Amino acid sequence: MKALGWSLLLLLIIIISATALSDHEASTIARRQLLSLPENGDLPDDYEFDIDIKVTITNPRLRRAYIALQAWKRAIYSDPFNSTGNWVGPDVCSYNGVFCSKALDAPKLDVVAGVDLNHADIAGYLPVELGLLTDLALFHVNSNRFCGIVPKSFSRLQLLHELDLSNNRFVGPFPTVVLGMNALRYLDIRYNDFEGKLPPELFEKDLDAIFVNDNRFTSHIPDTLGDSPASVVVLANNRLGGCIPSSIGKMGGTLDEIILLNNGLSGCLPLEIGLLGNATVFDAGSNGLTGVLPKTLSGLKRVEELDLSRNFLTGFVPSGLCRLSGLANFTFSYNYFKGEAAACVPGSRSGVVFDDASNCLPARPKQKSSKACAPIVSRPVDCGRSKCGSGNGGDGGKPSPAPLPSPKPTPRPPSPSVKPTPKPVAPPPPRHDASPVMPVHSPPPPRAPVHAPPPPKEEASPPPLPKAKSPPPPRAPGY
Ligand SMILES: *[C@@H]1O[C@H](CO)[C@@H](O)[C@H](O)[C@H]1NC(C)=O
Ligand SMILES: *[C@@H]1O[C@H](CO)[C@@H](O)[C@H](O)[C@H]1NC(C)=O
Ligand SMILES: *[C@@H]1O[C@H](CO)[C@@H](O)[C@H](O)[C@H]1NC(C)=O
Repeated sequence: MKALGWSLLLLLIIIISATALSDHEASTIARRQLLSLPENGDLPDDYEFDIDIKVTITNPRLRRAYIALQAWKRAIYSDPFNSTGNWVGPDVCSYNGVFCSKALDAPKLDVVAGVDLNHADIAGYLPVELGLLTDLALFHVNSNRFCGIVPKSFSRLQLLHELDLSNNRFVGPFPTVVLGMNALRYLDIRYNDFEGKLPPELFEKDLDAIFVNDNRFTSHIPDTLGDSPASVVVLANNRLGGCIPSSIGKMGGTLDEIILLNNGLSGCLPLEIGLLGNATVFDAGSNGLTGVLPKTLSGLKRVEELDLSRNFLTGFVPSGLCRLSGLANFTFSYNYFKGEAAACVPGSRSGVVFDDASNCLPARPKQKSSKACAPIVSRPVDCGRSKCGSGNGGDGGKPSPAPLPSPKPTPRPPSPSVKPTPKPVAPPPPRHDASPVMPVHSPPPPRAPVHAPPPPKEEASPPPLPKAKSPPPPRAPGY
């Protein structure tokens, strides 16, 4: 019995040591990458011709792929499952995780159309040579320990349709190189350490899915948000401030899910949210939103999951909203509502979860004290006049510096969300015969059908972010 216990412990230690990558190791790897980067992280155009590869590969594209994959193998410092163990010799199409198919422009030519090393727990970096994989339609490396930056040479991947770098240790500003990938439809960089601003161009791209949650993005949500044709946009668990741009209303025709959870957003909910008539998930919980619910909100005709909890919202929760036919879960707890329609009372409608805890609702259990309610409830925010609520841009504010303590103790853990799968994202990783023509979405990293997905890096690594919540001042900003 005891022996079993010890071997379990040992096993655990082995697992942990295989997975954890200290900050020091991560920065060492990143430094190695920087040292290896040619100018700007791009490749000279004739790069491949200068390389003597000592094997004979007549297909020029597979020769380039060989150069790229061997360079990548050299940039791998730890491969605990031996995932790249068979990356030897000229037959790159037989390499584990590498998928070939016929070239789009040369139907007789085999080319590397996909790379899928998801969940390989590999530590290393992305070398510039990967820019030689110009036929790539899918590049999936979720749940590894890749460090450093995404080299500029990735801009050569003009057929890339799906890029999944989630759940790694990438750092630096938003990888703007993706903005130049014209075929890209699915971008997943969640669960990394990217920081700084989200570029406005991100939302001008023809992307169907944008996952940038669980990074360290700051600044505001660009006003271009509304230009995005994406069906799923997940910005959760960053440090974004300012208002929700009113341009969001322009997404009505296409948006299915938007998750703004756990940022530092402030201001009123823009009226235009009511134009999101096809959205099934709207989540703006754990922010610093103020003011009353706009009357238009009941325009969320298809909403199933609606989370406005943990903000500074006031006023009344109307029945029109609570009676929406698809509604499954409307959470508005931890706000300052002083009234709710009978239709919104938890338990009033079978099959629908309502959560009204910790508001200022008379005659409801588990409410805030009147002392806690008074300062907010007695100073209503005039959303019509506030710079966010009245339909002007989202660039309204920076995260409020107000040092008010967050009204609730801790944010809920960002990941194990229980919501339904965003969409039938699905098909498994590409197979050998997968055509690059019709690539499928990368299954969101870690399985669990969740919104804001992958399980946070296991064990040791700290929860993606210390919550960056900055509650706004209790009264209307700006005047
Ligand atoms: C890794 O895989 C290669 C090729 O499959 C094999 O030859 C090698 O022995 C493996 N190494 C380990 C440590 O298992
Ligand atoms: C919802 O989507 C359909 C097409 O799928 C579109 O015709 C309709 O206008 C959309 N609804 C809104 C409110 O934009
Ligand atoms: C309802 O939604 C909230 C917020 O998204 C979530 O925390 C809660 O677990 C959900 N409840 C159910 C029963 O799904």
